[in-house]
Amino acid sequence: MNELQQVLQTALSQMQEVNSLHELEQFKARYVGKQGAITAFMQKLKDIAPADRKAFGAEVNQVKGQFEVALTEKKEHLLQEELNNKLATEKIDVTLSGRDAGRGSLHPVSLTLNRLVKLFAQLGFIVADGPEIETDYYNFKALNIPDNHPARAMQDTFYTESGNVLRTHTSPIQVRYAEKNTPPIKIIAPGRVFRVDMDATHSPMFHQMELLWIDQGISFANLKGVIIEFMRKFFEDDDMQVRFRASFFPFTEPSAEIDIYFAKTGKWLEVGGCGMVHPNVLNYMNIDPEKYTGFAFGFGIDRLAMLKYNITDLRLMFENDLDFVSQFKGC
Ligand code: PHE
Repeated sequence: MNELQQVLQTALSQMQEVNSLHELEQFKARYVGKQGAITAFMQKLKDIAPADRKAFGAEVNQVKGQFEVALTEKKEHLLQEELNNKLATEKIDVTLSGRDAGRGSLHPVSLTLNRLVKLFAQLGFIVADGPEIETDYYNFKALNIPDNHPARAMQDTFYTESGNVLRTHTSPIQVRYAEKNTPPIKIIAPGRVFRVDMDATHSPMFHQMELLWIDQGISFANLKGVIIEFMRKFFEDDDMQVRFRASFFPFTEPSAEIDIYFAKTGKWLEVGGCGMVHPNVLNYMNIDPEKYTGFAFGFGIDRLAMLKYNITDLRLMFENDLDFVSQFKGC
């Protein structure tokens, strides 16, 4: 019995030395843990003569209870101390001005897209949309690019496991829209497109915009008129020279590539492709090629944004560096 009281006295005086909650946990284990000094008395119970057992057990329990009460008090004391320390050291200066939450800014691609939509709205074009994961039919076949046609190699395509493609251009939107609407059709279709390509001037994902105008009597003159007008408005240069170079696209005939002239650098730069919608494509759209004609025009939005804002590396457009993006505020 004396022994037990002694253990308790030692425990209570050692407890005074404990300075942290972590230490207190370890201290507790030394007395009432599995191998603890007070626990050891409990285990002795079976060796005690039956007549004394009851009294012994009661005493051990009492000691254990006393120990635990002291422990709880100590714990509360330490918690309070910790809080007092925090209050003393972590002062908040409520007179300091707040931190700026930082307002984002529109990406140059978004700014350019907004301008494009506005410009073409003035020319009577409305916006159409389509899926980024396309079927082979809309991305190729209905655009007069049959299976095994060499033109498929012009665009390095990402295929999905189920045999669909990440659209390689915005042209499939032409077919989707024309299937559901009757001429006159006058749309722009902006969106993300994907090709297996990556360097300073190519990115595996980039943005294109497609133009489609189908009606009776639409001619190459309309194509030239719209595109030249658009380029001059976009670059805010009424004298900008625009050049149409004969080219080939399976979905247009005749086809041309479009170059614009930059007086500053004395250079012609290619900015897009265009042409009169191929009669086969009109047939896929369920539009009578004997009655209607149309033109299509496709260009890279990122490319145009770079030219407009003098950005030289396409990769900058997709890194989302805030210092870069925030330069275009209010453009
Ligand atoms: N879809 C073509 C491309 O991505 C561009 C284009 C669109 C050409 C419309 C002609 C007419 O290369």
